[in-house]
Amino acid sequence: MADTLTNMKRRSADDNDGDDSTALVLKKSKAGAAKAVHEHDEWEWDVDPAASLANARHEFGEHGGVNMSIEASATFTVMEAETMRRMFSGELGPERDFFIYSRHFNPTVLNLGRQMAALEGTEAAYCTASGMSAISSVLMQLCSSGDHVVASRTLYGGTHALLSHFLPRASNIATTFVDAGDLEEVGRAMVEGRTKVLYVEAMSNPTLHVADIPALSRMAHQKGVKVVVDNTFAPMVLSPARLGADVVVHSVSKFISGGADIIAGAICGPSSLINSMMDLHQGPLMILGPTMNAKVAFELSARIPHLSLRMKEHCHRAMVFATRMKKLGLKVIYPGLEDHPQHALLSSIANKDYGFGGILCLDMGTEERANRLMHHLQNYTQFGLMAVSLGYYETLMSCSGSSTSSEMNAEERELAGISPGLVRMSIGYSGTLEQRWTQFEKALARMHHTTN
Ligand SMILES: Cc1ncc(COP(=O)(O)O)c(C=O)c1O
Repeated sequence: MADTLTNMKRRSADDNDGDDSTALVLKKSKAGAAKAVHEHDEWEWDVDPAASLANARHEFGEHGGVNMSIEASATFTVMEAETMRRMFSGELGPERDFFIYSRHFNPTVLNLGRQMAALEGTEAAYCTASGMSAISSVLMQLCSSGDHVVASRTLYGGTHALLSHFLPRASNIATTFVDAGDLEEVGRAMVEGRTKVLYVEAMSNPTLHVADIPALSRMAHQKGVKVVVDNTFAPMVLSPARLGADVVVHSVSKFISGGADIIAGAICGPSSLINSMMDLHQGPLMILGPTMNAKVAFELSARIPHLSLRMKEHCHRAMVFATRMKKLGLKVIYPGLEDHPQHALLSSIANKDYGFGGILCLDMGTEERANRLMHHLQNYTQFGLMAVSLGYYETLMSCSGSSTSSEMNAEERELAGISPGLVRMSIGYSGTLEQRWTQFEKALARMHHTTN
């Protein structure tokens, strides 16, 4: 029995041979696809995140399964009592397969982190219980009481509330909101010695403004400011870290999950940052505990391999629908259209062959018209579902001003360019494209011919 137990145990604390890569750090890929952060000059413009993912370490199951095993344990045993002390002192860690407790590190969650690091081309990544916990933890790590953030005016409502209400109250961290497209305004807002973070969304929620990440990063770095980019709207399409950002955050609940069934988040960045966030005394991930469950991590890790296929179809359909909607005379906002203010910028910084994103917006002028359109699209033709969130295989539609941006007041929404009649559509890929287009046209015709 003792022998069996010993055989099942991981190698002893003194066994030094074997893998010298750390569990957190993404192995440099054979093809050199996984470039370190900050190496923008060396960035290979033709790197495909799907290729980086394929080069990442593949974890097999305990019994040789093609899928990794789920490490469902909250706590982990040691063979010798002394090993515990060495683990707590930081001498032995996950890079050598030593785990203490799953709020700290869990092998299944770490594996998802490796996938996220490969996807975003960062050294490391850590997955959290939600997008909001990823965002708030990063900001609390990079800023201390009295520090300052410069942030885009157009952000997801929850992030806007975090920056404008929660962080000033709970942590004395203040934010100046700016037009992220106006580099001079961004530069002017940075206070030397006080501003620690520039925060933008790669493609903003819901206005689809595209951030000039290379220019913003250059400017921020000159002033010693770290750049944090939320890439929830554009995984695969944009790689902010390869464009110069220091940290990339995600609401994994959206495109990356794809199933509208999981709430999750990720922080992708240098391993020094991720490790500091896990510090036993000071790290917000360790202390505040926004931990991802290993079973959730397993589910998500099985979906990442087909993210590139899903994104291509989301983007393709969004492009076709946006083009056709525009031809019908509708006011469409979509970065793939040439009349979008950042169309040329996006074309120059996007990864090849993915397109321009899976979200489009229709400005229906008033909330009443927006609601009527969504009503017919859902209840008359089944084009999509009235629901918040995005990245699902069905089309999801919401009127941003009265839903996901309602945390902002009317003036803030106006400044952010969120019209009361703005309908955000996350374009799905179920059914056929032509079937869905017919449903759209029928609903629009019905809306024009009826008053309800
Ligand atoms: C752009 C963006 N970032 C962050 C979040 C927050 O993510 P979660 O709901 O996973 O906490 C959302 C959620 O809607 C979002 O749209």
